[in-house]
Amino acid sequence: MDTAVSTVSTPLTARRNGPLQGRVRVPGDKSISHRALILAALTVGQSTVTGLLEGADVLRTAAAMRALGARLDRGGDGVWRIHGVGVGGFAQPAGPLDFGNSGTGCRLALGAVAGCPVTASFDGDASLRKRPMRRVLDPLEKMGARVIEAAEGGRLPLTLQGARDPIPIVYESPVPSAQLKSAVLLAGLAAPGETTVIEAEATRDHTERMLRHFGAKLVSKPHGEHGRRIVLQGQPELMPADVVVPADPSSAAFPLVAALIVPDSEVVLEAVITNPLRTGLYTTLREMGARIETLATRDDGGEEVADLRVTASPLKGIEVPAERAPSMIDEYPILVVAASFAQGTTRMRGLRELRVKESDRLEATAAMLRANGVEVAIEGDDMIVAGKPAVPGGGEVTTHMDHRIAMAALVMGLATDNPVRIDDSTFIATSFPGFVELMRSLGADIA
Ligand code: S3P
Repeated sequence: MDTAVSTVSTPLTARRNGPLQGRVRVPGDKSISHRALILAALTVGQSTVTGLLEGADVLRTAAAMRALGARLDRGGDGVWRIHGVGVGGFAQPAGPLDFGNSGTGCRLALGAVAGCPVTASFDGDASLRKRPMRRVLDPLEKMGARVIEAAEGGRLPLTLQGARDPIPIVYESPVPSAQLKSAVLLAGLAAPGETTVIEAEATRDHTERMLRHFGAKLVSKPHGEHGRRIVLQGQPELMPADVVVPADPSSAAFPLVAALIVPDSEVVLEAVITNPLRTGLYTTLREMGARIETLATRDDGGEEVADLRVTASPLKGIEVPAERAPSMIDEYPILVVAASFAQGTTRMRGLRELRVKESDRLEATAAMLRANGVEVAIEGDDMIVAGKPAVPGGGEVTTHMDHRIAMAALVMGLATDNPVRIDDSTFIATSFPGFVELMRSLGADIA
């Protein structure tokens, strides 16, 4: 455990400093990076991953896959070469698997372990220990895994005994969560017959795409108005594959909003995923009046990507519908920053899931705005932000071990009348190593 990481805080301050300009590529997608390592680890033979996000969260997943018996080598060329153990082939790990700050790594690995006859202990930092795991353990227990011990409410630290003979299930997901869906599908790999996940609202589909990429048979069909029904054929022989990880739209969101709110800016963001299950923020910002131009589009290893040109724009307040939340679930901390600088009120509906992220993001984002002179209200699951083109700033933001609160607050400080300070920047490295340097290369004053 290195929860000590949170005790060595590194504050940072962002202040206004002229237009942002340049062309940048943000690091690889976090969701795809975790999945590439886990699926390659379940494949017999050598897979390669190019452009892996080498952030703290993903490196934890790499360490966990090694502890479970896979071989992972990072070449001098930055390409990861992975020799997997095959579906159901994980070895008994020698010690607890520590997922640090990462809900994705932990929940996906819980699913992958649940289908193997091994017993593994899972742990994480103080933030991850607070997050709900029961939602994942419930279906995994139905599939034959057993929780040997867990902290209150099924939280970490916990020990899971995987199923010797996993049972395929039909699972109707009670919450819109790609992590939950993915855990069930990964456990279903080792089960005979069909494992089905039904989701009322479609969530990011990287697991489904990548399962197919590694040779699994999987069918995904629309279900109801906004949902999907996903059927996986169990016990496939996964084939080694090469994965190219595109730029993370959730990370691109930070320089993108910065370019919108800092007057006279123009920034090009390269190779950003355009998968509609990830780009709710881009839709929302365009509705607010943002000038985001799609330049070249291309297929980058199974995911379509685009270069985006973003120009500083006057924004207006809008209403963001609840059904859009799954496609921009990680983007609300930065959307509220854009909303603060918009003319008029922005109402964001259906934000319940924000309460169980790396922090209670509903409260943490509201506090970030209040500390900087923005009027904000929480009404049930909705957040309402009263925007105004001149935002006072001058506040200190408590980041609660949450990388996205930290980055959102720093972006805000690039356009407020007074600097914005954050108490701790350490956790930015979980998803966006090099964030500060990249923002400085565009002209940002973050010190
Ligand atoms: C992720 C899914 C989302 C998201 C997280 C990454 C994934 O969580 O917030 O950052 O890679 O599957 P939920 O599925 O719990 O909503």
